[in-house]
Formats: sequence, structure tokens, C-alpha cells
Amino acid sequence: MDRSLMEIDLQVKQWFKEIIPFIQESLSTELTIETKSSHRDLVSNIDKEVEARIRAKIIENYPIHQIIGEETKQREQIQSFDNVWLIDPIDGTTNFLKQQDHFCVLIAYYENNVGKLGYIYDVMNNDLYHAMENEGAYLNGVRMKSPASIALEDGLVSCDISRWHTKSNFTELVNHCFDIRYMGCGGIDSIHVFDGKFVAFVNSDSGPWDLAAQVIFAKELGLKMSKFDGNPVDYLVGGDYILANAGCFEDVVSIMKRHES
Ligand code: IPD
Ligand code: CA
Ligand code: CA
Ligand code: CA
Repeated sequence: MDRSLMEIDLQVKQWFKEIIPFIQESLSTELTIETKSSHRDLVSNIDKEVEARIRAKIIENYPIHQIIGEETKQREQIQSFDNVWLIDPIDGTTNFLKQQDHFCVLIAYYENNVGKLGYIYDVMNNDLYHAMENEGAYLNGVRMKSPASIALEDGLVSCDISRWHTKSNFTELVNHCFDIRYMGCGGIDSIHVFDGKFVAFVNSDSGPWDLAAQVIFAKELGLKMSKFDGNPVDYLVGGDYILANAGCFEDVVSIMKRHES
């Protein structure tokens, strides 16, 4: 086992012990909310503050590491790809603001473009999912099993069908799966693929921070992940992606690729 990764892992878990209560307590404070690209694209002072706090921890411990975060520094400003952290401080900001539930913190750590550590913290359930390269994926320290193989026609698929209903590939996906369920938080939708509750999560327009951790979990859990055309995702670019159970991955790719438009 890589000792330096173990040390980083212990530190990140320590950071969560400070950051998660801060987020939970923030729900009873008055939040400042702004819109970004559209009226449905929100950001709060807590998204920004959480990113600033995680960033400060990384800089304090690893001053030469590079950081890509949704709310601040992005890929264009990165100087080297030797040690890269990707942060989504609140994934599922709409849920955070409208439901006070079903949102998470996403952190991923890459060395020389290889995913090493991935974290998804389901804040209101106090559930920490973490994955380490070649060491497996864990829920609150207990190793997760790979989900059983399930065919597309028997499984629940997650995708934002209200947003993508005009796209023929999404409507065909709806017609071929057992049914659709959508959490509205990419990290939590992904968790449900990890534990077999969903057979696939199909997402469009992701940022690098939306999928970088999932790449590491997918490898450790024997899940499949690709762009809509079946090619590997680029953790520095983001974009459209499929995260799927091995039993339905090929079928999902063939649908999403056939109707790419
Ligand atoms: C969004 C959510 C959403 C997904 C979008 C993401 P945000 O993240 O995860 O479920 O469909 O692609 O951008 O903006 O709430 O961090
Ligand atoms: Ca956002
Ligand atoms: Ca996100
Ligand atoms: Ca976010």
C-alpha cells in the first residue's frame, strides 16, 4: 500500500470532520444566493466558503499541488499536472438550497493524470464514500462490493430527463430501461450506481469536478465509465458521461452514441 496516499487519505478525512459540521450548521443561517449561467444555476456563499476552506487545507499541506475547483480556479490556470486536486464543494446546490438534503462534497486527487483518491461525502446522511487506487472503495470504512450485473431492461437509470427530453438519445434511453429515477446530485446519483440501486447514471455538461472522483470509484468497483461515444472520459475536461453497471453499459453506450446530437 502506498504510504503517502494513506497519509493524504487520513488528512482528507480529518478535513471532512471540520467541513461537514460547518455545512450542516450553515443550513440554519441566512444564505446569500446568486445565479450563474441561468435561473436554475445557483451558487451560495456556502459553496464558495467550503471551496475556500478545502483549498486552504490543500495549500497548507501541499503548497505545490494544483487545484481545480468549481467556484474558483479552473483548468486553464493549472501550471502542472503532477499533483492535481479537483473540488466540487457542494454538488447538488439546487438540492442544498431547496431540499436541505441530497447533496454532497466531491474531492478527487490525481498524480500524473492517474486517479489516486476519490471522496463523495453525503452530507445529511453523514456517509463518507472513499476510493483509493488498487485498494477498493469504502462506505464509512467498510469495503464496498461490486454491484451484481443487471440488464438495462431490468434496471433503474438516472438522468435529468426534464432537462434533456428534447434529445432523442435520452428519450430512447427512457424507453429501453425499466424506469427513470433522478436524484439531482451527480455525486449521489453515482453512489446509487456504486451500490446497485441504479444501473446507470447518464449526465451531460459535467465539469471536471463532477466526474473526477467517480472515475476512481468506477475502476475499484468494476463499473464502466465513458463519454457518450464510448471513449474514456477526460477528468480534466468533464463533459457528457455514462457511469454504468457492466450488465448494461454496452447497451447504454449504443443508445447514447447512435443518437448523439
Ligand atoms: C450539478 C449536479 C447535477 C448534475 C449537473 C451538475 P452542481 O452540480 O450534480 O445533478 O446533473 O451536471 O453540474 O452545480 O449542483 O454542483
Ligand atoms: Ca454549480
Ligand atoms: Ca457538481
Ligand atoms: Ca457545485
